[in-house]
Amino acid sequence: MPTKHLSILEVKAHIELVSYNSNSAKIQRRCYKLKALILAAGKGTRLKPLTDTLPKHLIPVANKPIIFYAMEQIHEAGIDDIGIVVSTESGPEIKKVVSDGFRWNARVTYVLQSEPLGLAHAVMAAREFLADSSFLLFLGDNLFRDRVKNIVDEFNTCSPDALVVLKEVADPRAFGVAEVNTLGKVQCVVEKPKEPKSNLALAGVYVFTAGVHEAISKLKPSRRGEYEITDAIQKLIEQGKDVHCHTLKGWWLDAGKKEDLLKANRVLLEEVTGPAIYGDVDFKSSISGNIEIGSGTKIVNSTLSGPVSIAENCHIIDSRIGPYTSLGPGTIITDAFVENSIIMAGAHITSIPHIVDSIIGRNVEVVLKAARVEKSEIFAGDYARIEL
Ligand code: DAU
Repeated sequence: MPTKHLSILEVKAHIELVSYNSNSAKIQRRCYKLKALILAAGKGTRLKPLTDTLPKHLIPVANKPIIFYAMEQIHEAGIDDIGIVVSTESGPEIKKVVSDGFRWNARVTYVLQSEPLGLAHAVMAAREFLADSSFLLFLGDNLFRDRVKNIVDEFNTCSPDALVVLKEVADPRAFGVAEVNTLGKVQCVVEKPKEPKSNLALAGVYVFTAGVHEAISKLKPSRRGEYEITDAIQKLIEQGKDVHCHTLKGWWLDAGKKEDLLKANRVLLEEVTGPAIYGDVDFKSSISGNIEIGSGTKIVNSTLSGPVSIAENCHIIDSRIGPYTSLGPGTIITDAFVENSIIMAGAHITSIPHIVDSIIGRNVEVVLKAARVEKSEIFAGDYARIEL
């Protein structure tokens, strides 16, 4: 390894960790301060046409862009040096919204991945940003109930070469899958196996020491043509490196498809502790359950059944909203019923008897043309006009 001369700033950035060896004798270790890397490139093909104009990571769930949840978790874990891997398509929008990370007291460095050639390829693209630091790798479309802070604390306490996060799932074939021995050590990891040897899926958070870069440099593309982080972890295991696991207790969601987004919206709306009402609700309206209403919003002759989140400057007239529905800023809904749906900023919905299980992009207009439509399930990208 080349000798690294540390600047005063870098030296200050080091943190002292006290850990114990197997004989419980106290040893002092100096560790580089942990960085975080959020992966937010990729094409989001399973969410087209929505992702043609809005990166997957900016789709709002419970009225907050998905990537904000990652930023909050990382901030809570005490990491303030964050890299975000973007693509040429996702970069400009993500930079506009996340900016320099000031709102999370963080410093954000953007890294461009020229092509979505896999998670390990994205880490390779961020090599200069990561330098020789240990780092938390966070898949930007993943959401976690458990606190990532606990995972980071576990890594700092145990000092393994890598730590993977696992969750028991009914069907693990769509994920990386781990086999763990009776001592809780990871024995083997395989990406999307046809015949999984366990039901332990790799969830989208990992912590690595800088040793992972050498493993990544030896990778070959997988069957699906990607440089898989799972294969890099398998290489670490084969080299006899210490790969720990942390099993999640709470929910974990990978917001890759429409159903996943609606589920994430439901689960996160459940956590609304409301009511938090900053807008106006007239005397003919009724509200029940947990409700958030942003400032400048007017609710007129309508029924809101929580959990519901309505952002700022919306107009809801003669309508029924909820449960499990979020409405973005500036939404106008007149004479309609919307349930279990994500409606994004500036959408206009008029005279629709029942919109359910829907995701409606920014500034979409939905109007009734036919005499009778009972139930409508809509998945519409930005600026669409839908006549039912
Ligand atoms: O969600 C957990 C799963 O994530 C793990 O169980 C798998 O082992 C892991 O490979 C990964 O599988 P996916 O197929 O779900 O990964 P996906 O292509 O959805 O990408 C995950 C995130 O990484 C997403 O935010 C986009 C970003 N990404 C993806 C690729 C392929 C990049 O930034 N660059 C890329 O090249």
